Amino acid sequence: MPTHRPQCIVALIAVICIAAFVSAASVRADPAVASASVEDRVRALLGRMTLEEKVGQLVQYSSRQDMTGPASSSSIAPQLGAGGVGSLLNIIGAAETRKWQRLAVESSRFHIPLLFGLDVVHGYRTIFPIPLATAASWDLARIEHAERIAATEAAAAGINWTFAPMVDIARDPRWGRIAEGAGEDPFLGSAIARARVRGFQGDGRFATTGTILACAKHFAAYGAVQAGRDYFTTDVSERTLREVYLPPFHAAVDAGVGTLMAAFNDLDGTPCTSNSFLLDRVLRREWGFHGFVVSDWAGIEELRAHGSAADLRDAARQALLAGLDMDMQSEAYGPHLAELVRSGAVPESRLDAAVSAILAAKFRLGLFDDPYRYCDEAREKTTLLRAEFLDAARDLARRSCVLLKNNGVLPLKTSGLTVALVGPLADAPFHQLGAWHGQGRKEDTVTVRAALEQMFPGEQLRYAPGCETRGEDTTGFAAARSAAAKADVIIAVLGEDADQSGEATSRTSLDLTGPQAALLREMRASGKPVILLLMTGRPLTIESAEPLADAILLAWHPGTMGGPAIADVLTGACNPSGHLPVTWPRSVGQIPIFYAHKASGRPLPRADEPDDRYFSHYIDAPNTPLYPFGFGLSYTTFAFDQLRLGAPALRPGGAPLTVTVRVRNTGTRAGEEVVQLYVHDRVGSVTRPVRELKGFQKIGLAAGEARDVEFQLTPADLAFWRADMTFGAEPGEFDVFVGGDSNASLSAQFLLETTPTALTSGLSTLPFNTPIPHLFKAAQGLR
Ligand code: BGC
Repeated sequence: MPTHRPQCIVALIAVICIAAFVSAASVRADPAVASASVEDRVRALLGRMTLEEKVGQLVQYSSRQDMTGPASSSSIAPQLGAGGVGSLLNIIGAAETRKWQRLAVESSRFHIPLLFGLDVVHGYRTIFPIPLATAASWDLARIEHAERIAATEAAAAGINWTFAPMVDIARDPRWGRIAEGAGEDPFLGSAIARARVRGFQGDGRFATTGTILACAKHFAAYGAVQAGRDYFTTDVSERTLREVYLPPFHAAVDAGVGTLMAAFNDLDGTPCTSNSFLLDRVLRREWGFHGFVVSDWAGIEELRAHGSAADLRDAARQALLAGLDMDMQSEAYGPHLAELVRSGAVPESRLDAAVSAILAAKFRLGLFDDPYRYCDEAREKTTLLRAEFLDAARDLARRSCVLLKNNGVLPLKTSGLTVALVGPLADAPFHQLGAWHGQGRKEDTVTVRAALEQMFPGEQLRYAPGCETRGEDTTGFAAARSAAAKADVIIAVLGEDADQSGEATSRTSLDLTGPQAALLREMRASGKPVILLLMTGRPLTIESAEPLADAILLAWHPGTMGGPAIADVLTGACNPSGHLPVTWPRSVGQIPIFYAHKASGRPLPRADEPDDRYFSHYIDAPNTPLYPFGFGLSYTTFAFDQLRLGAPALRPGGAPLTVTVRVRNTGTRAGEEVVQLYVHDRVGSVTRPVRELKGFQKIGLAAGEARDVEFQLTPADLAFWRADMTFGAEPGEFDVFVGGDSNASLSAQFLLETTPTALTSGLSTLPFNTPIPHLFKAAQGLR
């Protein structure tokens, strides 16, 4: 329940009483009106609204049920009656949302329904693994399906708008929000962004109540915050911005995402909240986005702390002018926009554009025709935690597991084996849900302990947590040692608790916290085989822990059904098939570390000087990560050979280049492999990454089976932001690598002949090869 002050409650009751006299039928649209186009209905409504009512549509408040920043001091109910609120966030449940919707619809002049927003990030009540984990599945269909389930549950509980997907590329695991995205790679990130948007929004017509409005966030480059410190400053070149950080947003827009959220950070000196380069130039003019943009929590107010606005009025002016449509929780638009328009500081046409986009979303969601279609208590009761949803959560959690090491101890045989289960996360129903676990409840959650007890009944399983994730208490070690002494094998479930990753959880050390590393050493000392099961929201620096374990299974924060999913993988009922969506560093000192880096002028020691030290390296650690991007083992093995190119050269306007590889399951059990294709542009007008992912396919092969896997490359796949800031490919030699991770050694070469003049992907409204020099500078003039 929201915690309103007493006078607020009195006002709320008064408005509800007045509203009760208004017939609910009066808010239902006349069939003739309902059949008019969304654009016509928006125009007709907009034309009748006062300036204050228009501004109201741009105002969003939180119910205070779930807050990530300072709470608003305004009482919301009277403002609702005056049409002064367009959206609420963090109102939970069908009954509660219905109550607020009724208030808005029945007490305001035009009966305009509210949007109810919530962070449905990896499930509403059935919690799926964290997004970084599901990215490790590389399974687009199942990711889409998971979001559809999340949307179905949320929609039954009154939510019509999720603040997801988070599509920020993250190359710095010190940043705790890496847990919320799809990892480091723009190609994989874009594919997953599309899948998630489709999952939440369906075909975008919202014809069924199993779909809700999505919000691609945080626009943009939030993952590039300096030093990995959350909310901190960002400064990336325009080329890096366009090639690394923007593609997943562009993909989300192409997939029809209804809304975007502006990021907290500044970018090259302009906060994203008031950044016309991002919100106007790129988003609207280049990509043709027609939805609306919401600020992040109090983002407009924070323009003052950034030092880019002197007061709230100026912050509101800058944000609206830049293209920011809805004010989440700043109380900047509500008090200031009408006056700003009247004084001529902001053109009314800009206000109208923002209001129109918000109203259009409400029409598209069907809220004007039935404001309560998303708040159905009966449907809520029968929808949440359906058996098939839990099955899907279990399925995706198993597919998200990444086997990082296995000397043969896995899979476990269940008969006759005695297991010691230790570690603070072995029976942690809350923590395995991870960050942003929505309405997920620990009572619904099945832990690793609960699941393994089914498979190893009675004395076969000895559980002793040993320690907590934090603190220094090692008194539990004795019990863990004694469990280990009686067991054939030890499973140590270590990592991060739910509050150690996600928002505001930046870390300077990524080592196992508290006494966990010591517990692992104790377990190794027992002489029994040790399986390290990692539950975490991000890569941890486990280089010294790695030799202590015979097998390492990365389960991330696996969600409601994490326990059974992990048990399936440990016992071989499911063969692990996850691959890392992020490079796994050896140490924090290597960060940022990612596979698609530039070569440097001195990539290697000089061949003619054995003692050469003047090349790009560390004197105290290798350049290589502990595990490369794309890496993941299986209980079977795969081999790649017979790499064939359909032609020696790719001709613009000609047929795509076919790349074929033979993949063979060389082990003794069926398994799934992620076949990955990387390219390298040998010479460019600007330096190019050593490798870039340009294709992947997840395939299943029976033991001994071999199959040809085919990819098609076109010039568009080779395009980049050239020296003159035009977008396109450059002729010349390219390498192609195919394999099971980003170190793939099987390679071939081809030629791209002549510069293509017109490509079909990239900027959607500007013609290709359009020079766009110094866009950042040009954009400053718009502020
Ligand atoms: C986060 C957003 C989130 C918003 C609303 C902010 O603190 O940065 O990702 O959507 O809160 O809960």
